[in-house]
Amino acid sequence: MINKHRLLLSVFAVVLAVRSHAVPPTIPTLPAPVRDGRLTVETALSARRSVREFRHEALTLTHISQLLWATQGISGAEGGRTAPSAGALYPLEVYAVIGRVENLAPGVYRYRPQDHALEYVAGGDRRAGVAAAALGQGWIQEAPLVVVIAAVYSRTTRKYGQRGHRYVHMEAGGAGENLCLQAVALQLGTTVVGAFDDAALQKLLHLPQDEQPLVLIPVGKPR
Ligand SMILES: Cc1cc2nc3c(=O)[nH]c(=O)nc-3n(C[C@H](O)[C@H](O)[C@H](O)COP(=O)(O)O)c2cc1C
Repeated sequence: MINKHRLLLSVFAVVLAVRSHAVPPTIPTLPAPVRDGRLTVETALSARRSVREFRHEALTLTHISQLLWATQGISGAEGGRTAPSAGALYPLEVYAVIGRVENLAPGVYRYRPQDHALEYVAGGDRRAGVAAAALGQGWIQEAPLVVVIAAVYSRTTRKYGQRGHRYVHMEAGGAGENLCLQAVALQLGTTVVGAFDDAALQKLLHLPQDEQPLVLIPVGKPR
C-alpha cells in the first residue's frame, strides 16, 4: 500500500517536472511594420536571387515583424492582406522556425495576422530537423530563420471545389514572393524550398492535421 502511494507521488512529481519544462517562453510584442521603405519594387525584383549561404548573425524582432507582415500581414482597414486571396478566404498559415533571433527563444511560432503577433507552438532549435525533412539540404540549418507557409485547403475548396487547390497554391506563391522581395529590401537573402517530406515537417512543426506545409523559405544575412 505504501509502495503504491510512493509510486503515485513519483508519477505526480514527474508530471509536474515535465509540465514546468513545457512552460512557453515570454513572447515579445512585434514592432509595427514599416510601410514606406526606400527600395523600389523594380530594384528589389532586379536584386532577388536565391541565397543559400548565410552569415552567422542573429536577426532582430524588427526583421521578423517586417518579413511576416510582408508574407501575410493585414494591410487594410477592412482586413485585407499584403497578398491576394481567392474569395478573401485566407487559407494560408505562416510559421516562423526561429533559430537565431535577438530576444526570441528558438522554437516554432505561428504568425497571427489579426493582431500582428506570434503564438508559441513548440520550443527548441528545430532547424536541423527542418534541413533533414528537406531531404538533407544541410544549408537550411545555417539560416537564422525559416518561414514555413502552410495551408488549410478546406477554407478554399469549401467554396471553389477542386479548383480551390490551384488557388491555394497560387496564394502560397504570391505570399512567398512577397517575403523574398521584402527580404531584399532588408538586405537579407532567401531561397524558396519545395523539396521536403510533408509528413516529417508536419510532425516536427506540430502542425494541425488539416494544415499542409507548402513552402519553406530560409532567411538570413547573405555571406
Ligand atoms: C517551387 C520551387 C521549389 C524550389 N525548391 C528548391 C529546393 O528544394 N532547394 C533549393 O535549393 N532551391 C529550390 N528552389 C530555388 C530554385 O532552384 C531557384 O529559384 C532557381 O535556381 C532560380 O534561381 P534564382 O532564384 O536565384 O533566380 C525552388 C524554387 C521554386 C520556385
